[in-house]
Amino acid sequence: MSAELRIEGLDKAFIPGARPAVKDVSFTVGAGEIVVLLGPSGCGKTTTLRCVAGLEHPTAGVIRIGETIVSAPKQGILVPPRSRNIGMVFQSYAVWPHMTVRQNVAYPLKTRKLSGAEADRKVAGALELVGLEDYAHRSVTTLSGGQMQRVALARAVVYEPQLLLLDEPLSNLDAMLRLRLRDDLRKIVKAAGLTALYVTHDQTEAVVLGDRIGVMRDGNMLQMATPQEIYNRPADLFVAGFTGASNVLDGTLSSRDGAYGLVRTNSGDVLRTWIAPTLTVGAAVKLALRPENLRLDAPEGAENRFLATVRQRRYLGTETAYDLAVFGGDIEVREFGTEVRHAVGQAVAISIPQDACWAYAAAAS
Ligand SMILES: Nc1ncnc2c1ncn2[C@@H]1O[C@H](COP(=O)(O)OP(=O)(O)O)[C@@H](O)[C@H]1O
Ligand SMILES: [Mg+2]
Repeated sequence: MSAELRIEGLDKAFIPGARPAVKDVSFTVGAGEIVVLLGPSGCGKTTTLRCVAGLEHPTAGVIRIGETIVSAPKQGILVPPRSRNIGMVFQSYAVWPHMTVRQNVAYPLKTRKLSGAEADRKVAGALELVGLEDYAHRSVTTLSGGQMQRVALARAVVYEPQLLLLDEPLSNLDAMLRLRLRDDLRKIVKAAGLTALYVTHDQTEAVVLGDRIGVMRDGNMLQMATPQEIYNRPADLFVAGFTGASNVLDGTLSSRDGAYGLVRTNSGDVLRTWIAPTLTVGAAVKLALRPENLRLDAPEGAENRFLATVRQRRYLGTETAYDLAVFGGDIEVREFGTEVRHAVGQAVAISIPQDACWAYAAAAS
């Protein structure tokens, strides 16, 4: 049965007194939910996952799987990994090379008291789930990397764990296999009804796979929200930048009414934008804009309309990236479609919806 995972106030310091790898991280993964931990290398994703698995001893905090407390250092509780009923898939293909596909997947059932028929049924079910039913009697060494990861996945789910943990399982695969398995993984995990915690540094993977995404930096959880919230209302400048809001303008908050307000950029332009909750009038701000959210050829009267000049363009086949001179510098705009519509040197009117520009405290990041 899939269980809920609850983490409260998790701390992990490998070296006493040094900067902890994970700091006061709290979140819940609902039964049957997929949560992705996303962040740059070294931000504490793997450490969090290993604490859940019981492979690391937390310094502080409480980890519950279902109704059971599995880690609580203050209470002296530390349930060993093998008693946590967790399935795990890692970056390296942890398959046994001297065994067939079927033997690899059947292996975890050996220690569980099952009849032969029941074990056969579970193995067949797991192989079907990952699309390897026709490969059961092949040696795993004849498989592609993507197929080996499918074997590892089938082996992790065959005993119906309460929780599935995946640590960058696609990162050793080449681009094509990675995309195919990425799209299949969500279907597989959902079809099995598993609760899953998935770790990656790749934003697209996080968006495709996660019901919710937790963005981490330096051991801290910055934001935990649905992919749409992360992309449309990032909590801070780091989350905005890490998920692709590559244009940043400096300015000052001149007024605010509720969640919106007016920002005067250092170039003297005034934009109406979404304003981070803690900002007060007069504060130095940084405005973040996604290249995909700026509209070109904006009609008179459009929101935040400004005149810009095309400085450079890069044709990418299915989209075109333009560098526009505006706001006293260069900003990047991306226009989807195979047509190239604007020439270098041409003037173009841009518009930015107020919900697509976000003002954060300049000092924070
Ligand atoms: N066994 C260890 N001993 C000491 N430091 C570690 C150990 N494992 C990880 N760290 C440190 O903890 C931090 C977080 O690492 P990790 O959780 O592996 O990050 P991520 O998976 O996000 O790349 C890093 O600074 C890393 O160097
Ligand atoms: Mg890692």
